[in-house]
Amino acid sequence: MKRRAFLKKMAAALGLTTLFTFLYPAIRFLSPAKSVGSGEKVTISKRDLQGVSSMDLIVNNTPVVLINRGGQGVVALSRVCTHLGCLVVYSDSREKLVCPCHAAEFNLEGKVLAGPAPRALESINVTLEGDQIIIG
Ligand code: FES
Repeated sequence: MKRRAFLKKMAAALGLTTLFTFLYPAIRFLSPAKSVGSGEKVTISKRDLQGVSSMDLIVNNTPVVLINRGGQGVVALSRVCTHLGCLVVYSDSREKLVCPCHAAEFNLEGKVLAGPAPRALESINVTLEGDQIIIG
């Protein structure tokens, strides 16, 4: 009897672990990017970008990546690929934006480096005012 109860508990734990293993990535994939503000412009503190290479934002209902280039300043680019609209991802190690759908690559100015994208990523205006970064 004890052995049977133990095996039932182990099977339940294994089932829950398996369920979590499949659900967690799905939930992370479907959850929206961090939305910092609403309206035409988004303002964040410079401190929010310290020690971080990039930050995903929503500006005017457009997914935007804000890239911290260290001493070379900050750039903001639309994450919407100009090929078929997939969301590009910033690769810190490669210092490029890469589209996961058809492997288009963009430099940090948004220009096409490789792949089928017909034009550059849309550049988003960035203004530095004191301790604030204004995007949009
Ligand atoms: Fe980005 Fe096709 S959608 S390369």
